[in-house]
Amino acid sequence: MFVSDNLSINEKNHLVIGKSDTVKLAEKYGTPLYVLDDDLFRKNCRIYKQAIEKFYEGNGLALYASKALCCIHVCKTAAEEGLGLDVVSGGELYTAIKAGFPMDKVYFHGNNKTPDEIELAVKSGVSHIIVDNIYELEKINETAKHEGVIQKIMFRIKPGIDAHTHDFIRTGQIDSKFGVALENGEAFEIIKHAMKLENVKVDGVHCHIGSQIFDIDPFCLAAEVMMNFIGDLKDKLGLEIEKLNLGGGFGIKYVESDDPIPYDKYIQSVSEVIKSTASKRNVKVPFILMEPGRSISAPAGITLYTVGGIKDIKNVRKYVSVDGGMGDNPRYILYGSKYSAVAANHASDPYDEVVTVAGKCCESGDIILENEKLQKLNVGDTLAVLATGAYNYSMASNYNRIPRPAIVAVSDGNDKIIVKRETYDDIIMNDVE
Ligand code: LLP
Repeated sequence: MFVSDNLSINEKNHLVIGKSDTVKLAEKYGTPLYVLDDDLFRKNCRIYKQAIEKFYEGNGLALYASKALCCIHVCKTAAEEGLGLDVVSGGELYTAIKAGFPMDKVYFHGNNKTPDEIELAVKSGVSHIIVDNIYELEKINETAKHEGVIQKIMFRIKPGIDAHTHDFIRTGQIDSKFGVALENGEAFEIIKHAMKLENVKVDGVHCHIGSQIFDIDPFCLAAEVMMNFIGDLKDKLGLEIEKLNLGGGFGIKYVESDDPIPYDKYIQSVSEVIKSTASKRNVKVPFILMEPGRSISAPAGITLYTVGGIKDIKNVRKYVSVDGGMGDNPRYILYGSKYSAVAANHASDPYDEVVTVAGKCCESGDIILENEKLQKLNVGDTLAVLATGAYNYSMASNYNRIPRPAIVAVSDGNDKIIVKRETYDDIIMNDVE
C-alpha cells in the first residue's frame, strides 16, 4: 500500500516510519517537518555497496550524490556506510569537510566551478575533480601548480544518450550545459590537451544520463559507449583510463504506478556490459563509480504537515491547504511531480475523496498533490507526504520569508533533530539596514 516498506500503521491508526509514530513526531517537533529514516537510508547505501561486491568483485565505489539531501548528519552516515561523496558546489564540499568526510572519497562536480571553489577543492584534497570545460581545466591545473600538487581529474562526457525522463533533468545529450560531447570530438580534444598539462592527472571519464530513470537499457548503452571511448583513448592516445563513473539517476517509487528497477539488477547488467566491452576493446576493466542520490535518500524521507483551511468549491475542486508547500517541496511547481500522501492520524481510512493539497505560499501553482485520491482530511489532521527525502530540503527556499522546516532523523524508535527549524531571526539574519 505504501511506496516505501519502512512505513506501517500502528494500533492507534497512526502512520509509523521505521518504529516511530509520525503523529507523536509532529506533536513533539511541530510541522512542517521533514523526517528521515536513518535505517532505510543506510540500507539503501548497502544495496549499492553489496551489489558492487557481488557483481563487480568490489572493484568500485558508490558515491552518495549529496545534492539529493545534504547536511552534516547525512554526510556522516554515508561515510559510516563506506560510501564516497559527490559534491557539486563549495557549499556541499564545505558540509563534507565539516562532517569529517574522508576527502579521498570526495568527487567534486559542477558545470561552472568558480576559482574559489576550485581552490577549496584542491586545498582540501578531494579525490577527483570532474572537469566540465576547458576554462576550468586550465584553472585546476594552475591552482594545483600553485599548491604544488597533482590533481586527479575525470571528464564529464555527454555520451549522447536520450534517457526517457523529464526534459529538465535530461543531461546525457549534446544539447546540454553539462560536460563535453563525444560525437563532435570535443571530449577527445580536451583529454588530449589535458595530457599535456603538468599538474593534473587524467584518471577517468564520467557520464550522467538523467534522473528518475526506470529503464536499464539507457544505462547499459551509456556504459558501452563510454567503454568504447575508453578503447579509443587507448588506441589513439595510448591513454589507459583507470576509472569509469556512470553517474546516478536510478528511479524511485513516488506513486503506485512507478515501477523502479531493483538497483542491484542495474549494477549486474552494467557490470556485464563493461566487462564484455573491455575484453572486446582490449582495455583493462576499470574501477567503477556511480552516484546515486534520489534512490538512497528519497524513500527514506517523508514530510509531515498540519492541515489548515479546506475549501470545497462546488463543481470545481476541493482544496486542502497545509502549513508548508513549495518552499519545502518545489517539485510540483518545477516539474509537475507526483507524490503519495497519507492522513497520518487516521492512516488506514479509505482513499475516497479527490482533493488538491495546496501550500501556503502566495502563488497559485504552490501545490503538493493535484486532484489526487486521498483520505477525508479535516482541519488539524497531520498529513504525511511520502518519498520526500531527496530534492526537497536540498531545494527548499524561503519564499514569502517562510522559515525552512527542521529535519528529524529516526532510527530504531529513537528520534533526534539533525537540522534545526529556521526561525524568523534566521530569516533576517543577513539583512542590513
Ligand atoms: N550525478 C550527477 C552528475 C548528477 O547530475 C546527478 C543529479 C546525480 C549524480 C544524482 O542523480 P539521482 O541519483 O539523484 O537521480 N532536482 C531534480 C533532480 C536533478 C538531478 C540533478 N543531477 C528533481 O527534483 O527531480
